[in-house]
Amino acid sequence: MFRPVRGMKDLYGISVDKYACIVNVAMRIGKKYGYSKIKTPIVEYTDVFQRSIGDETDVVSKEMYTFDDKGGESLTLRPEGTAGVMRAIVSENLAQNLPLKLMYHGEMFRYDRPQKGRYRQFHQLGFECIGDKSPYTDVILICMAIEILNSIGIFDVKVLINTLGDSKTRSDYTKALVKFFSRHEEKLSEDSKRRLAKNPMRILDSKIASDREICQMAPLITDYLSKESEKYFEKVCNLLERSGVNFELDNFLVRGLDYYGETAFEFKSDAKDYTDSVGGGGRYDQLLKTFGGTDVSGIGFAFGIERLMLLMDNSRLDKNTRKVAVIPVSEQENDVAFQMLQSLYSADINAEFIHIGTMSKKMKLADKLHCEIAIILGENEINGDKYTVKFMNCSDVNEKTKTVNKNDILSFIRHNLGC
Ligand code: HAM
Repeated sequence: MFRPVRGMKDLYGISVDKYACIVNVAMRIGKKYGYSKIKTPIVEYTDVFQRSIGDETDVVSKEMYTFDDKGGESLTLRPEGTAGVMRAIVSENLAQNLPLKLMYHGEMFRYDRPQKGRYRQFHQLGFECIGDKSPYTDVILICMAIEILNSIGIFDVKVLINTLGDSKTRSDYTKALVKFFSRHEEKLSEDSKRRLAKNPMRILDSKIASDREICQMAPLITDYLSKESEKYFEKVCNLLERSGVNFELDNFLVRGLDYYGETAFEFKSDAKDYTDSVGGGGRYDQLLKTFGGTDVSGIGFAFGIERLMLLMDNSRLDKNTRKVAVIPVSEQENDVAFQMLQSLYSADINAEFIHIGTMSKKMKLADKLHCEIAIILGENEINGDKYTVKFMNCSDVNEKTKTVNKNDILSFIRHNLGC
């Protein structure tokens, strides 16, 4: 038996409906906020991710699907969407008209340990806003994310927020972290020991319990903020409060990717059975420049679509699944029935053409396909001026079968299917 690769899933049935519903809602809301769609390749040169996400992050050091192609180039399946979008902005010269607002969705790949809501192939829905640095922009983006969540029936979400300050802040804070973690070096995990030399802020993102215990006592970034970063963050928090956003300060939130500076945030559900973050993002000041683009700031976030699917309210799904069966009594009526089917499709009515087998087999199939109404086309119907219609689920013999004037058939079906 062949199976999908570990940590990768086939999506079908209701999962595909949920995926489509989430993406449709998000793209509609994104458009309202001025975002346009972008699709970048699933594969990029490895350097695109290494350079932007950072060598010491778990994503780059442990989780990337990297391989050499037949020409010997090192390629990587994208582990996230932001780096590819920045690369595309520079490659396609898109930064001429700023601000630039782009949204995307699609497959991402991380060699993570699979568990509920955590996969090796998963999907993200992301938004990036480039060239518009202001606390208002940060808060508008966060409010848009919350609007998307609410629109798919997810309300119990809290925003955890922190600031990673400007480069002066991070340089001062890094020195303080080196001093602090050096005192606890022996108790740190091997990964954290290495990070102490290369990228001490990464230690704060360690998932290892013993590291986490030490991190609880680490200095706080808020004590090292430059005046500008402090003012910026105060304004962000003030605007979030005024917008009625349910947020909480988390001074140890550093995010798992290196490109962030200033505002950083994550969306956490309060649902008892799911506590991982459903999305996250933040401001990045150097990212576009890293790819050879202009020196402008950006901010963005991404939701994990599988995690939204776990939490969404299924009653938001498109209910337009009610359908009609078109059933010719014998082969003679096939062509007329076929014509009827086409007029139903033209009128945007869901329909199945059931024309093979005995009448009883056809009726059974209509039932199996969950058709609610069957239009029966026999000799009488073709020669007369009425169609015979059966309500498949009706148990009242007097109501089960009706005759309908040929000219009224489309409006009759529409009325009875509620479409
Ligand atoms: P991230 O926090 O690494 O950020 O991922 C964003 C979301 O993707 C997570 O909150 C989670 O919902 C989902 N996710 C991550 N890994 C997995 C996994 N293995 N399985 C299922 N879902 C997962 C980013 O990727 C940034 N690019 C976000 C961003 C956009 N920052 C600025 N702009």
